[in-house]
Amino acid sequence: MNSRRNFLKQMSGAALAAAAAPSVLTWALPQGQSVNVPGEDGMILRSFRFVDLETPVEYFNTWLTPVSHFFVRNHMHEPSELDARDWRLSIGGEVEKPLTLSLAELSRLETHSVVNTLECAGNGRSLHRPQVPGIQWGKGAVSTARFSGPRLRDVLQRAGVKATGKHVMFRGLDEVPGKVPPFIRSIPVEKALDADTLIATHMNGAPLTKHHGFPARALVPGWIGAASCKWLTEIKLLDAEFVGNFMSPGYRLPNQPVKPGDAVKPEDTHPLTALSVKSVISGPSDGASLNAGKVAVHGAAWAGEADIAKVEVSTDAGATWTPAKLGHAHAHYAWRLWSYDWKPGKPGDYTILSRATDTQGRTQPASAVWNPSGYLYNAVDQVNIHVS
Ligand code: MTE
Repeated sequence: MNSRRNFLKQMSGAALAAAAAPSVLTWALPQGQSVNVPGEDGMILRSFRFVDLETPVEYFNTWLTPVSHFFVRNHMHEPSELDARDWRLSIGGEVEKPLTLSLAELSRLETHSVVNTLECAGNGRSLHRPQVPGIQWGKGAVSTARFSGPRLRDVLQRAGVKATGKHVMFRGLDEVPGKVPPFIRSIPVEKALDADTLIATHMNGAPLTKHHGFPARALVPGWIGAASCKWLTEIKLLDAEFVGNFMSPGYRLPNQPVKPGDAVKPEDTHPLTALSVKSVISGPSDGASLNAGKVAVHGAAWAGEADIAKVEVSTDAGATWTPAKLGHAHAHYAWRLWSYDWKPGKPGDYTILSRATDTQGRTQPASAVWNPSGYLYNAVDQVNIHVS
């Protein structure tokens, strides 16, 4: 049984009732509904037309996210029949010697590991005001894992990149429904040749699961999740950026801030690459009612290709800020867990904020830059709690 059918079979009665609703509503599930996908307990269902699962922020309590709690973002159906013995990866285009590799051949190349925080560019979209269309992600389209596999550059060097090879295109084996354009994107050759850019076959020490791109995916560390193509089957060197829906108009930002309704010309936009600086409070939960005493405020912070320099916490709605303690575990592209032990002075309602600053000097802004597709939301995080 393919994973989509399996997934649908496991969905709750309410979700299936919604699935049977009129066409326009077929994927508009009540937001925030929990779904029982095998091995994916407690995840928040954001779409069931294609599998889109969000990690509840309460799960941001381990440096490495267990694979079962790692968010899933699919633009289309996962490949239904994928036999690792038949799988091939082709490398062509602007190269001296086009290659085709089997999984066994790929596995014989030197392996490299990178702990990477993968975040969907649309993470936090539901928090933009005014609201924008698209999957209404809350704060949890982000997770961290140790990805392992051969370096992309080792494979590219075998094929011999010609001087005309400027961009590296990835194509996955998604099942493309109807008129939906295929999920094909490209990255500049400089990033492709970086020693940390991988053809990942493993996640947290185990072979990739189907949801995360089995048998191999690109891993473009520090960049928006869309750069890391799953179910990779073709790599092609191009002399220019790939032209297609998921490069333009998809995954681009206006060069200047725009207002809702403003017309944005394609030539006034640029492709999204590295992630912004950001922190999220994973506890206490928004709306929590706590007894007076010690309150552990904690969360995670990340900054794409930069490192986290500090995280500050405010327990008085931004009037004063105190540095949080950064967790020991860290790696270049990985989030940093942080915590702050707070003793509320008196009972009452409190607004707790977290604000991260990175080694490039970027600080989380008080409000995010609005854009028509709701990308890269990174405003200072906030929870409201009651202390009794
Ligand atoms: N690769 C393919 N082939 N198809 C997709 O839909 N989604 C992308 C990327 N790679 C996608 C893909 C997006 S938008 C994100 S955020 C990440 O995969 C999510 O990776 P994950 O599902 O392993 O968390």
